[in-house]
Amino acid sequence: MTIEWADTLSVGHSVIDDQHKTLIRVLNRLMTAMDQAQENPSLGMVDVAGHATDFFYCFQTHSKEEEALMQQFLYGGVDCHARHHTLFIGALRTLLLDEPNLDAIRINLPFIQSAVIDHLERDDRDFGEHLRSLGLFGRF
Ligand SMILES: [Fe+2]
Ligand SMILES: [Fe+2]
Repeated sequence: MTIEWADTLSVGHSVIDDQHKTLIRVLNRLMTAMDQAQENPSLGMVDVAGHATDFFYCFQTHSKEEEALMQQFLYGGVDCHARHHTLFIGALRTLLLDEPNLDAIRINLPFIQSAVIDHLERDDRDFGEHLRSLGLFGRF
């Protein structure tokens, strides 16, 4: 099942929101590739591994840029938030990059999906609340 972007996911900063939309699009492509791999596991693995790598680097790059924006806007939760990113990136690296395995990725994809949505809805939106408190929500 793929994820739909909703305004309830908005952080109120256009750079972060655009990156989140891209992140969801890339994760959806990985979900679709996994569905297709069920029919042809040997060919499907190449496609899944490619989309898994795309998602990993998309999340990693986004995390660094998000943390930089949090620092720029003096968000007090940036260190805790960055630790959360680092832990998740480590788990993604093990699963998606080090030894990509079709069954392991398939089993863990629902957890990745819900962890990403949970992070956007709760942790990233807390930064949005910070922007709101500064009167900056939706201004960039
Ligand atoms: Fe984040
Ligand atoms: Fe984010």
